[in-house]
Amino acid sequence: MSYLAMYRQFRPKTFDEVIGQKHVVQTLINQIESGKIGHAYLFCGSRGTGKTSTAKIFARAINCERPHHGSPCGECATCLALEQANNLDILEIDAASNNRVDEIRDLREKVKYPPVNGKYKVYIIDEVHMLTDSAFNALLKTLEEPPKYVVFILATTEVHKLPATILSRCMRFDFKLVSTDEIAKLIEKVLTQSGVTFEPSAVKLIARAAEGGVRDALSITDMCVSFAGGHITYDAVIDVLGATSREHLIRISREMLAGNVGTSMLALDEVLSQGKSPLVLSKDLIAYFRDLLMLITIGDKGKELLIADAEDMQAMLEQATPENYAKVVQAMEELSKIEQELRYSLQPRIVLECGVVRAIENTSLVARVEALEKQVKDIQSKNQ
Ligand SMILES: Nc1ncnc2c1ncn2[C@@H]1O[C@H](COP(=O)(O)OP(=O)(O)O)[C@@H](O)[C@H]1O
Ligand SMILES: [Mg+2]
Ligand SMILES: [Zn+2]
Repeated sequence: MSYLAMYRQFRPKTFDEVIGQKHVVQTLINQIESGKIGHAYLFCGSRGTGKTSTAKIFARAINCERPHHGSPCGECATCLALEQANNLDILEIDAASNNRVDEIRDLREKVKYPPVNGKYKVYIIDEVHMLTDSAFNALLKTLEEPPKYVVFILATTEVHKLPATILSRCMRFDFKLVSTDEIAKLIEKVLTQSGVTFEPSAVKLIARAAEGGVRDALSITDMCVSFAGGHITYDAVIDVLGATSREHLIRISREMLAGNVGTSMLALDEVLSQGKSPLVLSKDLIAYFRDLLMLITIGDKGKELLIADAEDMQAMLEQATPENYAKVVQAMEELSKIEQELRYSLQPRIVLECGVVRAIENTSLVARVEALEKQVKDIQSKNQ
């Protein structure tokens, strides 16, 4: 059997399996339960957040003979018929490759034939912003007076490219980026069902790297399983993502916070000589200093939010002292400043090294000022 990618294997089949889109899902369920189905829907939002999956569930649910809490039952004759890829009632059109007016005219011809299996014939038009102007006009005519058994679901990642005439005829639903927590829960479920064990910090790391996209999260998970096999560790995920290990970040930051230019350079070199890009390292460092800042400013709550095993957390807590606050902020600032330059420079390594040196110099300046302030305070309190 050929291998089915996780994100396809775990495509949600009922509304309660769709994560992070409660506002959309609940409205759709209410419409199904009250029988008030519109004739044109617009699903917009980032890629991999559930637009196509939700459209398919909705298309089946409005045809199902015995919907269960608004979701298709998956057992009635209509559900079974609509699960067949070649059924004539749920039609998926990818506008990216069928964007011409002829294709939409063809669609208008076929719209005339009523559904074969259920009550509704559903057209799911994906990436609808790719249609040409004349194709939009042709679609508009159909949207204006569709037969009562037709439902259109238009999906797009770029809603701003749609003409107002289309927007005004559709019920619009905005799909959100999904929270790291919800994504992490889904990854845990998928891994457990696939018989793969994992370190909790590994799952959190994948969830964070996905930046709100569920498909991306499952693709990264898939890569990690191929790479690591039956047990996924934090270090394996770091390798798959090409990120810098926590251990290295802890070392570099320790030297920077101590104000050691030379040993900081050596610590940087250790990472760069593995072939890691200065840009990636710089971003990882910024994220690391941000984590330190959270630990310093919100203490225990910050600890809960961070992804680290006990040993790393201990090392980070040693650096996350109130005395280091100003230095950490300086480092974040200096490193953020060079990001643009790192992208285009022919000597990115030098740019990164300069950034680190500047951060250290500024921080040692800050330290000297703070030491002076403290001395002044001490003298004042003695004189009082
Ligand atoms: N909100 C979600 N809940 C559960 N799984 C999701 C969600 N969004 C995406 N997925 C996963 O990603 C895959 C692709 O999602 P899809 O619905 O095609 O996204 P979109 O159409 O928004 O690009 C699905 O098969 C599923 O595995
Ligand atoms: Mg899609
Ligand atoms: Zn059914």
